[in-house]
Amino acid sequence: MTEKQKRRKSWAEPYKIKMVELLKMTSREDRLSAIGQAGYNTFLLRSEDVYIDLLTDSGTSAMSDRQWSGLMMGDEAYAGSRNFYHLIETVEKYYSYKYTVPTHQGRGAEHILSQIMINRGDYIPGNMYFTTTRLHQELAGGTFVDVIIDQAHDPADTHPFKGNVDFAKLDALVEKVGAKKIPYVCIATCVNMAGGQPISMANLRQLRRWCDEHKIPIVHDMTRLAENAFFIQQREDGWSEKSVAEIAFEICSLTDIATMSAKKDPMVNIGGFLAMNDRNLYERACNMVVVYEGLHTYGGMAGRDMEALAIGITESVHDDHIRARVGQVEYLGRKIAEAGVPIVKPVGGHAVFLNARSFLPHIPQEQFPAQALSAAIYVQSGVRSMERGAVSAGRNKDTGENYMPKLELVRLTLPRRVYTQAHMDVTAEGVIEVFENAGEVRGLRFTYEPEVLRFFQARFEPV
Ligand code: F0G
Repeated sequence: MTEKQKRRKSWAEPYKIKMVELLKMTSREDRLSAIGQAGYNTFLLRSEDVYIDLLTDSGTSAMSDRQWSGLMMGDEAYAGSRNFYHLIETVEKYYSYKYTVPTHQGRGAEHILSQIMINRGDYIPGNMYFTTTRLHQELAGGTFVDVIIDQAHDPADTHPFKGNVDFAKLDALVEKVGAKKIPYVCIATCVNMAGGQPISMANLRQLRRWCDEHKIPIVHDMTRLAENAFFIQQREDGWSEKSVAEIAFEICSLTDIATMSAKKDPMVNIGGFLAMNDRNLYERACNMVVVYEGLHTYGGMAGRDMEALAIGITESVHDDHIRARVGQVEYLGRKIAEAGVPIVKPVGGHAVFLNARSFLPHIPQEQFPAQALSAAIYVQSGVRSMERGAVSAGRNKDTGENYMPKLELVRLTLPRRVYTQAHMDVTAEGVIEVFENAGEVRGLRFTYEPEVLRFFQARFEPV
């Protein structure tokens, strides 16, 4: 970061708007009827019935003029598309990984990785679970083990790197099952389920040494790498003079394999990849990708999509871009917190997370307070958010018991380059209005519970 950038306080956007998408404005009655039809699950709302859509930052960002131009440069050859080569060169240049296998999105990469690396009875430690990641580990016969620091499970703790690994937990796992039963350690940058919280460079370096000692590779879930790199630049000693691009490259260099949901950081509407440095592993991944995704030079992606992705990667690590992106999230978080609404602290990189347990203390976790809160915010304001609590956590694969995670959260997730500061003000007002009348919100019970990843399609009714 240059001296000039450091002096500048504003997070204003480094772009202007060329085209707009018109939105439907709805009434409270419209929204009450819509949420009832959706079974109190914001995933089942029609997007048309939503005013400000903060369900997710996945595939919802605005592409730049350059990315849209890239679509016209699509080389839709079945094999060896020009855009594939552009993509793999870009991945190596910005992320360091030598071999890249495109996939249709992040879980496509997780599926292939889990199938080629996990044996039945293995354990996979990670800095908190992610829904699809853990499911693919379990489908391959593995068991996920949470090794994130305890502070990550406490919404009020202001640790600057809540994504850090607790080495005592890793040591205990090796002690219990042996290093041979651990095919890899999975590390997410800017841990989604912890509230968009970063891992520090020091912790990652220590993990590199630990993994070298135990001969265990590191898999990097790099879905939100740029945001993590920005927090390191802002918070960690010794990194303030480095650019986000340099820090991002260094993070990747400390890991062996990566899964990417390109729908986040690199701002494309669809896409992902599995990347690595080991040639043998690459060959095995190529064998799998032809079964489940497509030829190894397109995976699940069209040529044009690979081109937009290659361009998006270069834009995603610009200091000005990421400062504005995280700055907007912090702006929303500050507005909400100033009104006394309980949120996860520090504010994360991609979203503001409301602490539903303290927001709705009258609703027991068995009645899914975060799910109920998400529905109430929609009815109040037309803002769509997402439950990240007991519904998302699902059931233990062996006992069938509901997981009851400490974090019972509602996520207000900001798409990149999509909404304005006034939209953030409307969102904050809506949340605060629900907070002032929190006693009116009622708990929920299932009327339909899908077997896997239940949060996507479950239906509820008020208790
Ligand atoms: N890893 C992380 C950390 C994610 O946040 C996601 C997706 C994935 C993997 C899977 O990628 O959706 O492309 O298959 N997260 C989205 C979200 C769905 O809303 O947080 P995918």
